[in-house]
Amino acid sequence: MTGSLPFTRNKPSFWLFALLATAACQTGENPHRSWRVYRGGPESNCYSAIDQINRGNVAQLRVAWTHRTQDEGVAIQCNPIVVDKTMYVTSPALKVMALEAATGKRKWTFDPFPGGKAKGVNRGVAYWEDGKDRRIFFTAGYQLYALDAGTGQLIPSFGNHGTVDLRQGLDRNPEALDVEVTSPGIVFGNRLIVGSRVSESEGAAPGHVRAYNVHSGKMAWIFHTIPQPGEYGYDTWEKDAWKTIGGANAWSGFSLDEKRGWVFFGTGSCSPDFYGGDRRGTNLFGNSVVALEAASGRRVWHYQIVHHDLWDYDLPTPPNLVTVNRQGRQVDAVAQVTKTGHVFVLDRQTGQPLFPVEERKVPASDVAGEQAWPTQPFPLKPSAFVRQRYAETEMADISPTARAYARQRLQAARNEGMFTPPSRQGSVVFPGMRGGGEWNGASFDPASGVLYVNANEIPNVMGLKKVEAGGADAVAVGKNVYQLQCATCHGTDRRGQPPFPSLVNVHQRLAKSEVRDRVRNGKGQMPAFPQLSDEQVGAVAAYLFDVPKENPASTTRPEPGAGPVALKYANTGYGQFLDQEGYPAVKPPWGTLNAINLNTGELVWKVPLGEYPALTQRGIPPTGTQNFGGTLVTAGGVIFVGASKDEKFRAFDRETGKVLWETTLPAGGYATPSTYEVDGKQYVVIAAGGGGKNATKTGDAYVAFALPD
Ligand code: HEC
Repeated sequence: MTGSLPFTRNKPSFWLFALLATAACQTGENPHRSWRVYRGGPESNCYSAIDQINRGNVAQLRVAWTHRTQDEGVAIQCNPIVVDKTMYVTSPALKVMALEAATGKRKWTFDPFPGGKAKGVNRGVAYWEDGKDRRIFFTAGYQLYALDAGTGQLIPSFGNHGTVDLRQGLDRNPEALDVEVTSPGIVFGNRLIVGSRVSESEGAAPGHVRAYNVHSGKMAWIFHTIPQPGEYGYDTWEKDAWKTIGGANAWSGFSLDEKRGWVFFGTGSCSPDFYGGDRRGTNLFGNSVVALEAASGRRVWHYQIVHHDLWDYDLPTPPNLVTVNRQGRQVDAVAQVTKTGHVFVLDRQTGQPLFPVEERKVPASDVAGEQAWPTQPFPLKPSAFVRQRYAETEMADISPTARAYARQRLQAARNEGMFTPPSRQGSVVFPGMRGGGEWNGASFDPASGVLYVNANEIPNVMGLKKVEAGGADAVAVGKNVYQLQCATCHGTDRRGQPPFPSLVNVHQRLAKSEVRDRVRNGKGQMPAFPQLSDEQVGAVAAYLFDVPKENPASTTRPEPGAGPVALKYANTGYGQFLDQEGYPAVKPPWGTLNAINLNTGELVWKVPLGEYPALTQRGIPPTGTQNFGGTLVTAGGVIFVGASKDEKFRAFDRETGKVLWETTLPAGGYATPSTYEVDGKQYVVIAAGGGGKNATKTGDAYVAFALPD
């Protein structure tokens, strides 16, 4: 079966009920008609009650306007917000821009990196108002900015002339921390709650969640996601781990229950990601759904989804706040989508699962020093939305060569399901490190109780390599630094894999000083490494320049225990398991769109998302492609999604998963669309920035669509 999966149809009465329920909501003030908060509202559901564009007329959509940001960067991952008639977006170079929502005309621009030193990505901004005081909160690099929503000017009374340095207040040396914030914070009363993106390697910053006063920029509270002595969860770690371990960060944003006054988030793994010998234990609050009182930061409940993560199975999205029907009762719940392709549905009040969850035995690690946790939680429902094991039956099948290639490479690897610990011979990670679910998360239709989630199904084969202790000379120190900090993206063999460039023969392209500059300051999708000393930065540059001359019997003989690091393991790279042609080395689908009924826990339908024209020409049915950027579901019965590598923007039928309309964007739409209305007209907008981990051509456009007048 290649890509074309059977549809299951819902009973018509179910959809009729859904439509009536939506119609009833439209009388009076309906919060689902605006898009003032990232992901469509505090519930994080990417849902709109606006139904002017619907299943019957979506095929007539036309471009209403295109806005070119006219700058360059890695990608645009921004989900625009719209307040009254103004849209707020971010550009590839991480500028904030205010646009007229009906025309795309620019009103103002704020540039956090004058001089063009932008790096990393930004997924959007947060809006706050109190009477005439209207502010946009925005993060770029390690700074939080407060801007006047009317003019784009910094608000001088906030923090330090309008900015707050988010490296401060983490109980570590701020100068040595790599802290970035890629997803917007969320506003509750006079608090702005923010998370962070941190390094995945040695020396990473802790991922504590913080709230800042929206007026002054003063920190209002901090929640230690890596608990300190005396705090709940401290005993899930070794004694002093909290001083050195990083991560457990809420990098994907927040959802908020305004009535309860509770904020929710999912956390990432602890760093270093793939070797946990220095952080034995379950590692709370890593990989957990956490509910906090938004006013105080006090923990209400938590639910850990992966114990002692060794796979980079970050919870990639804030949970959807949903209400589901369980045995005839309406229950407020949170639905957490995972990179492993599960949806955990938890009672919003208590954090208890609403469907049974089994704690199952999982394989042990064979790496010295590692103690993989013996069990992991498996929800019996909802059904998983991706394959969770690379079984013999899933062997690549687009050609006999691909099949032989996959089989041969798999022979040597450990392959015991999605919790196979990293090993020295290589372990199959499937679904891969890029999901299952990703940062785009899921949309949810409150009328029907159906969750829509796009997913990747591309394996990795991840190996661990013993890091050689740094020796006395710079090259040996540099090799050690390289293995711990750089190999994860550029590969142990330094050959990279898009979007991570090869560093083989880098000395022919760059000067040593340029290499040092890249490591110091980062560039594009490459982070900066403030955690490295000048000596280490110099050493890694020396190593990269020396390797062309390296031979196995060379003089770089490390002394055990010398240098910055003793016994450690580093992973051999994020490289995906691809076939000899560069396609995923597993049976399609490689990218899918899924509809899951959260009342029953059943998968309603599943379709491939995206297509490789070259494979279609060979007679292979659509395989789906790697995809990033979320879905939007509307009361008009339509699901909008870009995300796929073929640079298309599509509308799917909510009932069947059939494509109702598609168009080609100026560049890949690797962002979540928004919808809104101005003067009675509905618009759907998506960023077309290309690039990113899909590594297709980059772009700088926002494109808005509407029905013809
Ligand atoms: C998180 C992934 C990641 C890590 C970790 C990482 N890099 Fe990079 N690196 C990148 C990406 C992506 C680029 C391309 C950046 C661009 O130009 O947009 C890059 C580019 C570079 C370049 C420029 C290559 C060229 O041909 O222009 C050098 C040199 C480099 N990295 C060295 C390092 C070193 C040394 C380390 C470890 C200290 C490191 N990188 C760690 C992702 C990474």
